[in-house]
Amino acid sequence: MCGIIGVIGNAPVTPSLVEALKRLEYRGYDSAGVATLVNGHIERRRTEGKLVNLEARLAKDPLPGTIGIGHTRWATHGKPSERNAHPIATDQVAIVHNGIIENFQELKNELVAEGRRFDSDTDTEVVAQLLTSNLERQMSPQQAMGKAMERLRGAFALVALFTGRHDILMGARRGSSLAVGHGDGEMYIGTDALALAPFTKRVTYLEDDDWVVLTAKGATIYQGQTEVKREVRQSGISGAMMGKGNHRHFMLKEIHEQPSVIGDTLQTYLEPATRLVTLPALPCDWTKVSRLTMTACGTAFYACMVAKYWFERLARLPVDIEVASELRYREPPMSENGVCIAVSQSGETVDTLAALRYAKAQKQTILSVVNVPESAIARESHAVLPTLAGPEIGVASTKAFTTQLTVLLAAAIGAGRARRNLSREEEMRLAGALIELPAHINAAIGMEEQFRWIGQEILADARDVLYIGRGSSFPIALEGALKLKEISYIHAEGYAGGEMKHGPIALIDEMVPVVVVAPSDAVFDKIASNFEQVKARGGKLVLLSDAEGVSRLGSQAAASIILPRVEPAVAPILYTVPVQLLAYYTAVAKGTDVDQPRNLAKSVTVE
Ligand code: AGP
Repeated sequence: MCGIIGVIGNAPVTPSLVEALKRLEYRGYDSAGVATLVNGHIERRRTEGKLVNLEARLAKDPLPGTIGIGHTRWATHGKPSERNAHPIATDQVAIVHNGIIENFQELKNELVAEGRRFDSDTDTEVVAQLLTSNLERQMSPQQAMGKAMERLRGAFALVALFTGRHDILMGARRGSSLAVGHGDGEMYIGTDALALAPFTKRVTYLEDDDWVVLTAKGATIYQGQTEVKREVRQSGISGAMMGKGNHRHFMLKEIHEQPSVIGDTLQTYLEPATRLVTLPALPCDWTKVSRLTMTACGTAFYACMVAKYWFERLARLPVDIEVASELRYREPPMSENGVCIAVSQSGETVDTLAALRYAKAQKQTILSVVNVPESAIARESHAVLPTLAGPEIGVASTKAFTTQLTVLLAAAIGAGRARRNLSREEEMRLAGALIELPAHINAAIGMEEQFRWIGQEILADARDVLYIGRGSSFPIALEGALKLKEISYIHAEGYAGGEMKHGPIALIDEMVPVVVVAPSDAVFDKIASNFEQVKARGGKLVLLSDAEGVSRLGSQAAASIILPRVEPAVAPILYTVPVQLLAYYTAVAKGTDVDQPRNLAKSVTVE
């Protein structure tokens, strides 16, 4: 899930390449590099680690040139190092690549047998060597690219710069996203509209197996040897670089934005005056829907888990929830008149996209809940339910998750009404609870000092941390554990409270804090028993509940947080904020890189 960019024009391109890479760094920060043509020769500047290292290198050793390519890396093949940093080059061509060339070893063996010498451990280098081999067989760059694409297996988006060719840049995609940006006397190609936003709003998304020849004046797109036309769209993404405001990290800023972005999202899905849900026109009749499948990855999958409780209860709709990377290869039969909801912040997660395509092939109506309206998942869905969280920069998803939950609850209420399972009074009561949510979340954020103390004094030195919850709080326990793992690197697990005594309780001792997600709801008595069972084993308990819950259990906890009492249906959205802040302040206490945690990337576009 690297970020790639290419610019061809008449002015020095390195500043633009770096500007675009700044917007792509959320996709990977293992190394970064740029390459241009200087007097017809390929010149590169590459550094290990974050983009700031490359900027420092360029400040010392500037790179001229009016045509160039750039890359920010999330390592798949070959460890993070300058040697494996892109652009990968031979004396004929330089390549930047996002994706995985699955048959790279087979191709490498062939090329080595041909006498080619490889400089890096990357899968990408086979593309550079293959193109060079084709060029040395007197093929034109276009022929060389067309031939190379026939040999490559796997997912890729790549841009190529050719020695002696100031007049063209070439790109190709299969599986990983790639878009062309139309400028005035300058043309651009990059991973997504975000990368192109500083330069243009006129964007063309390439389809699978498209390859493109860019000149400073325009783009010619091919499928095989046939020229094809692709739509030029107006992108809504602002070119302004997101700032942290007066927050130390994007993650904290995005946690603080939740009351307002949930408010914005509710504006789209709720009619405040009537307290009735207003869903966009959807290509499905909920009364005829036989089964609902929801699929996603990571945090977005936990949103599906919570929504299962809502659709089953409010709409009496049978629901399957599927981890996308499993669904795509398990290939289950899917029922007729089925609907599949794909959930994704980025809208580019390769496993979720593939699961969506599988469900589509199984004649499911595809709805997607995405935060990037121009993303591949949005473009390939029959209808989109956008979350209005705004750009999410912190790798650990926060506001995208709570707005996903907000959209999914509104959708479940809408389905419940359509299937005549929800009375108008019930709908208005739930809508009322949603309207009050931003204020309750504000109150939770206001308890920041308590979360800082628990993070610092109870969680930061822990070897392992467990999270437990019951019912729709179980997925929030899982989300809490994921957030802590992602940004503090502490091993953490989430469990359904009732599962503890079937094994995990063996882990309990005074060194293992247990965070209990326990709003006052129908299963509070059950989670209270689990709380007692952990207490009996000497566990250190952190209780997240409301006044009633804390009055019952608080005295036995090492720390308790009293949250506002809310309608049980909206509790998972509210209780997400404390587990986000606990993870955040634990990571801050440990001094880890909160916004760009090691080994992670914001959008996972490789398998
Ligand atoms: C969450 O904090 C992680 N960044 C990760 O689990 C993420 O939720 C997952 O990769 C799915 O991403 P998506 O929502 O963009 O599809």
